[in-house]
Parts: sequence; structure tokens; C-alpha cells
Amino acid sequence: MESILIVDDDILICETLRFTLKDKYVIFTAKNIEDALYIYNTNNIQLVITDLKLGQESGMDLYKKIKYLDPKNVVILMTAYGSTELVIKAIKDGVFYYINKPIDLHQLELIIEQGIKFKNLYKEIEYLNNQLSAKYSDFGIIADSHAMKKVINTIEKVKNINSTILLTGESGTGKTMLAKYIHYHGNRRTKHFGVINCAAIPSNLLESELFGYKKGAFTGALKDKPGMIELANGGTFLFDEIGELDLALQTKLLRVIQEKEVFPIGGSQPKKIDIRIIAATNRNLVDLINEGKFREDLYYRLNVINIHVPPLRERKEEIFKLVELFITRYSTLLDKKIDLISNDFCKTLLDYSFPGNIRELENIIERAVALSTDGVLDTIDIENNILSYESIENSKPSKLIPIFLGESLINAEKKIILETLKQCSYNKSEAAKILGITERTIRNKLKTYKSDLIID
Ligand SMILES: Nc1ncnc2c1ncn2[C@@H]1O[C@H](COP(=O)(O)OP(=O)(O)OP(=O)(O)O)[C@@H](O)[C@H]1O
Ligand SMILES: [Mg+2]
Repeated sequence: MESILIVDDDILICETLRFTLKDKYVIFTAKNIEDALYIYNTNNIQLVITDLKLGQESGMDLYKKIKYLDPKNVVILMTAYGSTELVIKAIKDGVFYYINKPIDLHQLELIIEQGIKFKNLYKEIEYLNNQLSAKYSDFGIIADSHAMKKVINTIEKVKNINSTILLTGESGTGKTMLAKYIHYHGNRRTKHFGVINCAAIPSNLLESELFGYKKGAFTGALKDKPGMIELANGGTFLFDEIGELDLALQTKLLRVIQEKEVFPIGGSQPKKIDIRIIAATNRNLVDLINEGKFREDLYYRLNVINIHVPPLRERKEEIFKLVELFITRYSTLLDKKIDLISNDFCKTLLDYSFPGNIRELENIIERAVALSTDGVLDTIDIENNILSYESIENSKPSKLIPIFLGESLINAEKKIILETLKQCSYNKSEAAKILGITERTIRNKLKTYKSDLIID
């Protein structure tokens, strides 16, 4: 049975309510704030019903103290007729509901039922959120190297404050994973974690996704739609691949950071929001500023705390822990048993520079597990993966590449594909997008280049 605390300086009211409600609930009564708080603190009270006037004291003062102890409280106010303004203010302050005196007991019972339902729902949400954060609190992050320990150390220091974080580092180093880690280890973990990949959505759609719109803002806007930023209110928002955000939206984002408000498309009123912003990029934002593609003021607003995630080649001591993690992941997923890793396999991994970082290592292991026979990971499995990156690794990045008259088309195509891959830190899907071909075509081309990989 749920417990209810009734607070009124009129003992007759307390006793009448006790008598009416005692079959359904455990009833406690108190005649002033001090007694009420004592009972609240020493019993598992689900709901409080208090008179607005408690002699010289106010039911609202009691409510504020309870709210401080338990923000998820349910308090119902008993009020005299004529206190409408006070009631409106109380409800705005978070009081669950009110009932006028003289009390209609049937109506009160209905309000109590709703209040208890609300409280249970809140508990359920809290339980689910805790489950979720427990799930995410163990990410299986490997951070054994000195460089990664420094990263985790910084995160520990800043996880509970609201300053904006800029995560930088090459593609595949774990920026997105670390952003989630920050959220699920910080004090916003039971709130929403919103994320948008600025490179994946065309900018005209990105604006309505992020900021939402008002009904009638454009053809097809049939009703108000809140944006992703607003939906993450109270939580954390990750702007992934921030370097790809177009200039107009950069201006809108600046407003979100500076004014802590969002303007839905077609809206005349801004909406206040409270989010922690994390941005991630594998681009050099200072270069983008110099090219006029990134706002300098936004850069400084984002770069309050910079966390640079080192490339895998600078933390090779983590390779085998990661290999173990990925073998466990993919042997379970692919239903394969791996007992042995050959020496050659290990040596090749250690000698390799991983331009695609941890994501590349993960792909190598996934593929090796899929192709393994008799529970052994050996070199043959790994070469196919490595060749596509290794051969182009040392070529110098350049914006202009020499193509000579008389050169074969196949050769020119190869130069363009390999150079574009390099510019995109070997991210095949990004390169495919730039080149206007599919990722599969890139993979097939790389296979054909395998025997003849020097760019000539
Ligand atoms: N320290 C780590 N421990 C375990 N797994 C990791 C670690 N860092 C990254 N990973 C894994 O590597 C893969 C790539 O990581 P992630 O997507 O976070 O990289 P990224 O830096 O965001 O890449 P991009 O710049 O391409 O977005 C993911 O599958 C992630 O789970
Ligand atoms: Mg990422």
C-alpha cells in the first residue's frame, strides 16, 4: 500500500481524510512543516496533501522544502476559494494539483490516484534510465596507453560541468564513442543524449531537424515539430563532423551556445534550452577558418575544452587489448570460435600504421574472424585489408595532382581515387560521396590496384 502524508493545522480535516482514505493507503498526518518534514524523511511517502495555509506557515514553503529533498515529489494543495492566483503560481512551480475547500472527497480520491500513477511512471522512467546508463557506463573502452589515460583523466574532470567540448582526432580514433562516454558518465546521464552527423544530412533538412519548425513555416509543415536540440533539453548534444556544418547553420548554432535558446523555423519566439554541447571533427578547423568555411567565433565557443584523441599508431600498446575485444565481439556475432592468433598476424599488426585507426583495426578483425578456419587468425586474412590502405599511406597529400596528356584514363582515375581517399583520412564512404561513386566501386578499384600500387 502506498503512503500518503496529510498536512493541515485543522486536526478535524486530517482525521476526516484519514478516515476516508485509510482502506486504500497508509495515512500519516502532521499539523506543521517541522512535523511534516520529519515524517517525510523517515517514511517512504509517495504523495503529500497539504493545506496552503498552515497557521502562520505556508503550504508552499513545505512544498519547496520537499522539492529540495526530492525533485520528483507529488504534492497536492488544499486551498480556500479565491486563491486562484496563488494556485496558478504553485502549479507553475511544480505542485502536482490543487483541490478547493470544502473538499469533494470523490474528486480528491481521483486526484490522488492520478498523482500516484504519475509518481510510479516517474519511478519507471528513472529505473529505465538507470538501466540505460548502466548499460553504457561500461563501454568496453580500452584506454591503457599514457595518451588515452590522459584523455580519460581530462574527461573525468570535465564530465559534470557544462563547458563545451571539442573532440578532435583522425577518423576512427573513437571520438563519437568518447562523446557518449562523457554523457553516460556525467551528471546528465539519465537525460537524453542527442546526436547529429552534420556530414550525413543535407543542410536544408539539417536545419529543420536541429531547430524544429512551427506549423505553416513551409509547405508540408502541417503542425509544430520540435527540433532535436529541444528534445535533448537537460541532456547532452553531439554535433558530429562539425566541420561539415554550413555557414548559415553555424550562425544558428552560435546563438544556441551564446543565448541558450533555439529558434524553430517560422517561429517568432525563441525557446530556452539547457544542453551540454560536444562537437567532434576529424578536420582541421583552423584550416577551415582560413578557407572561410568555418566561423572563427564559433570555433572559440566550441573549443572551450579541447580533447585530442591520439591516432592508434601512437598508442600501439593498446592494439592487443583491442584485438581481444573485437575477437570476442565478432566471434560471438559471427558464431565462430577463435583459439589462436598466428605470430605473423601479430607481427603484421604491430608493423602497421593504421591510417583508419581503431575502426580499421575493428574491420580487420571482423574480416579475419569471418574468414578464419580451425579457430586460427592468420596473415592471409589480414593482407587484403591492409593492402588497400598501406600502399597509399606515404603519398604526399596535395590539392593538385599531376595528370599528363598521353596518360591512360585508368591511371588518372587511380590517382584521383587514391588521393581523394587520402584527403578523407581513408574513409571510403566519404571518398565515395566526393567522387560520386559507390563505396563498393572504391573497394573493387582498390582490389585491382593491389598488384600495382605505386602512384606513378
Ligand atoms: N578506446 C576504444 N576502445 C574500444 N573501442 C574503441 C575505442 N575507440 C574506438 N573504438 C571503436 O572504434 C570504432 C570507431 O570509433 P568512433 O566511431 O568513435 O571513431 P570516430 O573518431 O568518431 O571516427 P569518425 O571521425 O570517422 O567519426 C567504433 O566501433 C568504436 O566502438
Ligand atoms: Mg565519429
